Amino acid sequence: MEKEFQCLLVTQTDTGEFHQEVTQKRVQDLPPGEVLIRVQYSSLNYKDALSATGNRGVTRQFPHTPGIDAAGVVESSTSPDWQPGDEVIVTGFDLGMNTSGGFAQYIRVPANWVVRLPAGMSLRESMVYGTAGFTAALSVEALLRNGVTPQKGPIAVTGATGGVGSIAVALLHQLGYTVHAVSSKASAQDFLHQLGATEIILRADLEDQSGKALLKPRFAGAVDTVGGQVLATLLKSVHYGGTVTCCGMVNGAEVPTTVFPFILRGIQLAGIDSVEYPAERRPAVWQQMAQGWKPRTLETLAHEITLQELPQAIATILKGQMQGRALVRLP
Ligand SMILES: NC(=O)c1ccc[n+]([C@@H]2O[C@H](COP(=O)([O-])OP(=O)(O)OC[C@H]3O[C@@H](n4cnc5c(N)ncnc54)[C@H](OP(=O)(O)O)[C@@H]3O)[C@@H](O)[C@H]2O)c1
Repeated sequence: MEKEFQCLLVTQTDTGEFHQEVTQKRVQDLPPGEVLIRVQYSSLNYKDALSATGNRGVTRQFPHTPGIDAAGVVESSTSPDWQPGDEVIVTGFDLGMNTSGGFAQYIRVPANWVVRLPAGMSLRESMVYGTAGFTAALSVEALLRNGVTPQKGPIAVTGATGGVGSIAVALLHQLGYTVHAVSSKASAQDFLHQLGATEIILRADLEDQSGKALLKPRFAGAVDTVGGQVLATLLKSVHYGGTVTCCGMVNGAEVPTTVFPFILRGIQLAGIDSVEYPAERRPAVWQQMAQGWKPRTLETLAHEITLQELPQAIATILKGQMQGRALVRLP
């Protein structure tokens, strides 16, 4: 197909800087794959911002189109599993990392990366969730799997105004949990209360500097999205038998902890990975997100942006100042 389409392209200049611009690509230049998808919505995640600014841990080669999320309609397929007209979601795997991503009107991907849009969810809603929402759902699922039910006590959510954090607050509230939101933003009280948080804790007030091996238990569990000292503090602060999930590292990749929370309180640390999460288990998670888990506040989490507005949003998320989700609408 000779067709041209619009995308955000990140290029490296001769001086080594990374430059983002909206430009045209040809469908024939997309990577090989069984399913060609006309993208209607994408969304901005922290990892996209890393890719768009040249982080080699995320994207090795430039020019490149980021976007780890895409939702749209199958245009053509050589796989018997997908037909033209199917409404589909793609998140994770290599999309937007070293495979041309969702900040574009078209993507072409392997058939097993594709998930059917579940009943009860629009394409738009699927990208309000995006990878952030899928990761939040996997985190909630890990709490449930480990027996941390709403009756057990409050759940702390860190990075609460960010993508994963804000959706985790809303999902937990929807499922009947008491949520204590941990945020760096004193100004975000109303936003977090609207999502269902009963208490807001400023990150500076949570972060333990005492060096103690254990603190007074105050949470039944926690969804941590930031890592570092914050995660270390949570491990010391959950009740006997509690679970802390771990998915992110904006506060640091090192976790200064001891074995004591594990061997004296029997707590669990649950690692969450949305990227390589098995294809065959994805539809069941999306199904829950479309039905009983869907927060009434989902729409209020998103603000819609265009490809042209992405560079500004990328700068905002890199500064840790994003609130909720930036939903990218493709023309
Ligand atoms: N494992 C996976 O599969 C997976 C999937 C998705 C995301 N992630 C990771 O999860 C993290 C969050 O992703 P996201 O897309 O939700 O990002 P995001 O929208 O930027 O949210 C991160 C939030 O963390 C807080 N924060 C920012 N800088 C911080 C710092 N230095 N120390 C402590 N908190 C800080 C801010 O919230 P407050 O101001 O409210 O504190 C910020 O909004 C990232 O590290 C991302 O790479 C992992």
